[in-house]
Amino acid sequence: MRAPEGSSHEARKRVLSGFRPTGPMHIGHLVGALENWIRLQETHDCFFAICDWHALTSEYADTSSIKDYVLDMALDWLAAGLDPEKCTIFVQSHVPEHAELHLLLSMIVPVTWLERVPTYKEQQQQISNRDLTNYGFLGYPVLQAADILIYRAELVPVGEDQLAHLELCREIARRFNSLYGPVFPEPQALTTRVPRVPGTDGRKMSKSYGNALNLGDPIEETRERVLRMVTDPARKTRQDPGNPDICPVYDLHKAFSDRTTIDLVNVECRRAGIGCIDCKTYLLKHLEPVLRPIQERRSRLARERDRVREILAEGARRARAEATRTMESVRAAMKMDTRLPG
Ligand code: TRP
Ligand code: SF4
Repeated sequence: MRAPEGSSHEARKRVLSGFRPTGPMHIGHLVGALENWIRLQETHDCFFAICDWHALTSEYADTSSIKDYVLDMALDWLAAGLDPEKCTIFVQSHVPEHAELHLLLSMIVPVTWLERVPTYKEQQQQISNRDLTNYGFLGYPVLQAADILIYRAELVPVGEDQLAHLELCREIARRFNSLYGPVFPEPQALTTRVPRVPGTDGRKMSKSYGNALNLGDPIEETRERVLRMVTDPARKTRQDPGNPDICPVYDLHKAFSDRTTIDLVNVECRRAGIGCIDCKTYLLKHLEPVLRPIQERRSRLARERDRVREILAEGARRARAEATRTMESVRAAMKMDTRLPG
């Protein structure tokens, strides 16, 4: 059905990845994840989840925006080039089997494994405007393991920050298999080297810093924000030589510009041969052609929200078929299949 010529659908490795719908997707997500997913959909059997239950683990007190972010995320993914004919795009909560598997796995996961996950204590300390002592937040990696294992995914494209969760997922799979028999393959993380994409203030691009260039922002706004972006702070006037190695604009060049431009900036910045406005204009010449088609597709899709909902419904049907099959094996392995005769 979805197998293009030359590669049997059966032979394709299963991939699963996901994002939490807690805000708009930005160019860091494009370079760090989406571009990789778009390549993978050509060669792998891909499932991409909008993890709304994961969003709840920290946003439980104010859930009002999650719903909009879910649809926005679907728009961003489709606009960026995920093709529902080639991959399965779905919303986590549309496949309630994830919750069942999460519950069953929670029986075999020692609490100490969860308390040891580095992000757990870190996030509790860093995020001061929310109470993250809830049970669901501790169980976050168990739910993530359920997302992955329920599709028996072999590969999980994620950033470095997710490696601890992936390792825990593998440990959970091993523990399940040794207690009840082999059901789950141990998934591998798929990390690709991605360029650093700093925000407009030079810090890590993040919606909470207000420094993000979002895929859905109007091009004019992105243009202005790039032109006002932080540069090498020592380069005060056009005559001062600069140091691209400490300039966030140069990082964006490395992510979006061609080799010739990158080399030119590297040389000319250091000898004040170009000014920062020139430099940012070159960057925009490479960034805009990436963003414009995404924006065009995005605004077309935004006018057909029912079509997007239909894509998500179809994705949920495909995902559920797969999840249902795995849950049958899980219940049988755990001898919890009391609905069946025998
Ligand atoms: N924890 C991931 C993140 O914050 C999101 C996520 C949820 C995920 N479920 C997943 C990623 C399953 C990979 C596989 O980015
Ligand atoms: Fe940064 Fe470019 Fe200005 Fe150099 S010329 S400081 S790389 S913006």
